[in-house]
This record gives sequence, structure tokens and C-alpha cells, in this order.
Amino acid sequence: MRAAGIKDPANRRDFLAGRIALRGFTAGILGVRPGELTAAYSCPDCGTGPELDHGRPGYRLHGAPAGLILSLSRSRGWALLAAGGAREPEATVGIDLEHSSGVGFPGFDDVALTPAERQLLAAVPPDQATLWRTAAWARKEALLKAHGTGLRVNPASVDAFAEPTEGVVLVELDRVALGLPAGFVAALAVAG
Ligand SMILES: CC(C)(COP(=O)(O)OP(=O)(O)OC[C@H]1O[C@@H](n2cnc3c(N)ncnc32)[C@H](O)[C@@H]1OP(=O)(O)O)[C@@H](O)C(=O)NCCC(=O)NCCS
Repeated sequence: MRAAGIKDPANRRDFLAGRIALRGFTAGILGVRPGELTAAYSCPDCGTGPELDHGRPGYRLHGAPAGLILSLSRSRGWALLAAGGAREPEATVGIDLEHSSGVGFPGFDDVALTPAERQLLAAVPPDQATLWRTAAWARKEALLKAHGTGLRVNPASVDAFAEPTEGVVLVELDRVALGLPAGFVAALAVAG
């Protein structure tokens, strides 16, 4: 169980709260009790199954796929969840929540941004640069979650602001409408 390996109590609490919230959210949409769902996370390297403690979130209901596409992101005590009906078998969703305090470290631009993004950033007013970086990172992670790879793919190879490929929608969500404090950026990607 992942929670047992998380040493910091606040991080462990946030991890568990996110997992409980996602299960409750999913059960609420399906109109079932949370205990009726069996976790079925999936990882490109490790496969899927009730024992898997990482990867793309998913559930089974009474032995069959629950029929929802799901995503979760946590940041600084907040969690953001996304769900959609999986009418298309290949449809996926990725959500990401980032706080501006996470992108200010030296070297961020080198490890996180494409050459085209570094050019765009050069034209951003200095007082807006941190929020721009936060948005770029949130958009990249949302996209990488929708693709199911996470950071196995080098984020500096993913264009956050480019025209998305066909069949992919990538948007920033309204922070105020979500009830999030200043400094947060939320992004949502839907593929397929
Ligand atoms: C996915 C990832 C980009 C998110 O990182 P983060 O910003 O620190 O965390 P967030 O809170 O925004 O998102 C975490 C959630 O992303 C989701 N997630 C993790 N891997 C995912 C994947 N491959 N595809 C889609 N969603 C994924 C899970 O719901 C996870 O929640 P959990 O902690 O309850 O399991 C990052 O965790 C990652 O790249 N993980 C894969 C790392 C890896 O390759 N590990 C080796 C495993 S074999």
C-alpha cells in the first residue's frame, strides 16, 4: 500500500484524502456505494489490477470496467478530480493542479520547456512569468496524464501551448470558479 511508504504525515493524509475523494466521486457518479468499487489502476510498465498502487486511476464495478475515465491531481492540500463517460473505448482524461511555488527553481526552464516555449516566455512580462510557467507545467502534466505516460515522456519535448493534435482538447480551467486561491493553475486534457 502506497500510503504506508509515505513518511511525511501531511503528505500521507493528502494522498489518502485524494484516493478517498476519487472513490467517493466515482461512486457518486455511478450511483453505487464506494465499497462496491475495486481499484483498477493501470501503468504502461506494470499493467493493471487491484494490487497496483500507481498509474492511471480506474475502477471496476462488480467485476466489469466501471465505464468512466478518471484523473486526479493534488497540490498543497487541494485535490482536483475529473471524470467523463467512456463512450469511446480509447478516450482518456488528464487533470493537473499546480501552484506557482513549484516552478520557480533555477533550471526549471531547461528541464521543463521546449525551445518554442522558451521563446514565448521571453516575451512574457517578468511579473507574469511565474504564472506562465505554472500554466505551462499544468498543461504538460494534464496532457501526459491523458496520454497515460506521465513523466516517462520528457516534459521538455511536450509543447504546452501548441495547437493540440487531432482528437485532443487541452484547456485551462477557471481557478476562481473552482474555488482555488491565487497562485494555482488547473489544466484539463481530453484525448480520443
Ligand atoms: C503522473 C505524474 C506526472 C503526476 O505527478 P504529480 O504532479 O506529482 O502528481 P499529481 O497529484 O498531479 O497526480 C498524481 C496522480 O496522477 C495519476 N497518474 C499517475 N500516473 C499516471 C499515468 N501514467 N497516467 C495517468 N494518470 C496518472 C494518479 O491518479 C496519481 O494519483 P495517486 O497519487 O493517487 O496515484 C507523475 O506522478 C508521473 O509521471 N508518474 C509516473 C512515474 C513513473 O514512471 N513511475 C514508475 C512506475 S513503474
